[in-house]
Formats: sequence, C-alpha cells, structure tokens
Amino acid sequence: MAYTRKNVSKLTRQEKRRFVDALLEVKRRGEYDDFVRTHIAYFTTDGESGLRPAHMAPSFLPWHRQFLLELERALRRVDSSVTVPYWDWTRDRTTGSAPWSADLMGGDGRPSDRRVTTGPFAYAHGAWTIREGVTDGEFLTRDLGRSRDPIALPTAAELEGALKDGVWDAAPWDSTVTRGFRNKLEGWGTGRGSASWRNHNRVHRWVGGAMLGAASVNDPVFWLHHAFIDLQWTRWQRRHKGARYLPANPPGPGDVQHGRIVARHEKLPPWDITPDRLENVDRIYRYR
Ligand code: CU
Ligand code: CU
Repeated sequence: MAYTRKNVSKLTRQEKRRFVDALLEVKRRGEYDDFVRTHIAYFTTDGESGLRPAHMAPSFLPWHRQFLLELERALRRVDSSVTVPYWDWTRDRTTGSAPWSADLMGGDGRPSDRRVTTGPFAYAHGAWTIREGVTDGEFLTRDLGRSRDPIALPTAAELEGALKDGVWDAAPWDSTVTRGFRNKLEGWGTGRGSASWRNHNRVHRWVGGAMLGAASVNDPVFWLHHAFIDLQWTRWQRRHKGARYLPANPPGPGDVQHGRIVARHEKLPPWDITPDRLENVDRIYRYR
C-alpha cells in the first residue's frame, strides 16, 4: 500500500522524533555520506562536458525523485513508519516556521561563523559531523534569509508561474531555456544576482550555508525542500492532463545536447530507471 508524505507543519511530536532518529541512524551507519557523495558526483553544469542527469536538464525532477526514494528507503529500513515530510515554503516563510524548530531541523546559524548550534544536527551533539563537503568545515552552517543582503523565499505566485506552463521542457534543454515547467521550477532565471534565482534555486539561496552548491545534501532540510519540489510535478500532471516528460527521444548526433541529457526512455545514472517509469509513483507514495 502507498505510504503518505506529510506537510512538515502537520507532523506530531512523535513523527518528528522518529524522522530525526532515523536520519541520525542512517548518518551513523555511513549511508548518509554516500548520498552527499552521489549528489556531488552528479553536480554537472551546462559549462562542463558530459551527461547532465541531475541539474540544468530535463531530468532534474526524476533524478531527484529517485534520489529521495533511495533516502526514504534507507530511513524506512531503520523505522518503517518514517516518510520524508515536505516543506511548503510558500506558507512557512520565516525563520520561526515549522522546519526550524529545535525538535526537527534546528535553527539558523550563529552570526560569527554561521554554525548551527540548536537542534539534533548541531555539531556539539556529535551526531552530525560533515565529512563530505566542498569545504573543510565539519559543522553544519546556515544563513537563513541571507542576513547581509536579505532575500525572500519564493512566493505562491512565483510557483504558480512555473505550474501554469503546460510544456515540460524545451530546447536547448539547459539552464538558459526560458520556456517550460522544468526550468521555471528549477529556477535558472534571466538577469543578474538574486533576481535570477527562482523557486527551487531561490530556496537553496535563502537557507544558505551548506545548502549552497554541490554538497547541499549535508543539510537535512534538503530532503524537505526537494519533497515539496517533487510534489509540484504531481500537481503539474493533474493540471495538464496528458502532458509528459520531454524530450521523448534523445537529441541526434548533430545537436549540441547530444549525449548531454536524458530522454524519456533512457536510464538515469547511477540508477537502472528511466524518467518514463518515474512519471507515476502513486503506488509507492502520495502527498497529503
Ligand atoms: Cu540536486
Ligand atoms: Cu536542490
């Protein structure tokens, strides 16, 4: 039977505790750092060569859907009652909102070095030492709202701007495309500075610290954010009946995107699964 992913603001005290305990156990087993490594390994950008299965590409959503499912499986091996909750940042928009409580994600980083000192993932507790990063810091960092040059979380209207686009993605299938649901949601906008970060990207920027860049998985709020992003795929399908993942077929040898993106029936490395098979996951989980 399908299990349920819930809004983080609706979790009971016990649900929060079990989710946190499962995360800490997956970390203790060494499995969590494998997820961080995988994300770093697949952080290929437009400017680099090779296949881009995870970011700046049509398969942004299915790649992260499978990534979340793998983490969720690891959590459920520890405690089968646990699922990944989602953070609706269009509603829970402040540093005092649901994810940031001491019994869940903990709060903001302290001003001096942005170190998170509250909650289960505070360095001093000894259970959340960062070992796989792009910097040498061993402690989790955050800068909620970006204190020196404040930015706001994306609004419901901005998210709606992505959802109403009935085309999955379009050529040139990268971070520069201005049409299509995928890039409007992933959030590589035009312009300079903070105005160019939309939806998904803007949330990474708003949290700051560890959530910036390839090692963002080190902050467990990564999963709550990506569960909400994943929910948008389901909403988009409901709104645009029959609309599907694109491209259906791989770009030909003369195309600049040849060998650089994943088509509907191609495998999404490192897994043996295609976007086609990830378009409907109703039998695995549902959102409430
Ligand atoms: Cu990612
Ligand atoms: Cu992300």
